[in-house]
Amino acid sequence: MSTLTNRKPRLLTGDTPTGRLHLGHWVGSIENRVRMQDDYDCYFLIANIQAFTTRMDRPGEVHQNVMEVMLDYLAAGIDPERSTIFIQSEIPAIAELTIFFSMLVPYARVMRNPTIKDEIRDKGLGDTYPFGFMMYPISQAADILSFCADIVPVGEDQIPHLELTREVARRFNQLYCGVDSHAKDEDYIKLGGVFPIPEIMLGRTKRLVGIGPPNAEGNLVKMSKSLNNTIFLGDDPDTIKKKVMAMYTDPKRLKATDKGTVENNPLWIFHETFNSDKVWVAEATERYRAGTIGDVECKRKLIDVLVELIEPMRQRRLQYEQDLHYVKTLLKDGTSKANVTAQETLMAAKEKMHQRYF
Ligand code: TRP
Repeated sequence: MSTLTNRKPRLLTGDTPTGRLHLGHWVGSIENRVRMQDDYDCYFLIANIQAFTTRMDRPGEVHQNVMEVMLDYLAAGIDPERSTIFIQSEIPAIAELTIFFSMLVPYARVMRNPTIKDEIRDKGLGDTYPFGFMMYPISQAADILSFCADIVPVGEDQIPHLELTREVARRFNQLYCGVDSHAKDEDYIKLGGVFPIPEIMLGRTKRLVGIGPPNAEGNLVKMSKSLNNTIFLGDDPDTIKKKVMAMYTDPKRLKATDKGTVENNPLWIFHETFNSDKVWVAEATERYRAGTIGDVECKRKLIDVLVELIEPMRQRRLQYEQDLHYVKTLLKDGTSKANVTAQETLMAAKEKMHQRYF
């Protein structure tokens, strides 16, 4: 849409409310969102229906987590004056488009999604997951396309869902809007399509590791609440200190004078990712290798760095927590605004599908 008018390009992304947001979310996507608020027309969705794919038996918890994610957004610096924050289940157009889009994706294609397979394994879902779990990537395509998003900042694990979204958008535009199947992605709107082919934007750190030890195969695992290896954006300085002091480093290094390994060492991955004092990091890395600096000193430094990043967020969160009624109002206003946009898209899509009867 942005290609037709001269308004700002539209950005959309979101999170499943399964708990509080952590540093993995921050470097994966949230810091990009905060930065891009001025240059893009931003929509941030709290994907509560997606939470139901694994938590259908815990609706109260999902409700609570919607509020937690909202508080984390505000705390992280997403500004409700500039950006639209809204709740997925309150946008009926998304549900309607999900159904129509489900006809555009071959069954076998849905079953082949690598992120879905990883989730089934990591969350131990066995073969008990619901049909709706397999559907959620299609619903995610509807989240994105309902808003005609041009760009979607997400973590690396979301790439398969974005590829599916792009396929759905192309197919819809080809089938119902007469766009040629050889059209270039950037030309779809110009050629009469309803949906732009959204671009994926990855964070500067594609998959932040957790603070815990490697898995049975010897690989470090990503930061994830279900793996209990997170530092939350709302953690207080004391908690951050305890977590960093207990964090996994080089297991073969027993004392400060032992030579240390920097590669695949969360302590150094975190310094590389979060410490802006690159000179200190470069020097300390060499001294760690040589056995002339202790783990504790390096951890102390990391604690300072993380507290400096997280503490202003935590303070902001505390402020908003004082007035949850106001926070709800912000969510309600964002949702109303989102509904107008999504409804417009739905009408345009139905028109093209010859399914506007009255
Ligand atoms: N699947 C995403 C996650 O769990 C959340 C999500 C739902 C999303 N709908 C979206 C992300 C649309 C980007 C765009 O992190």
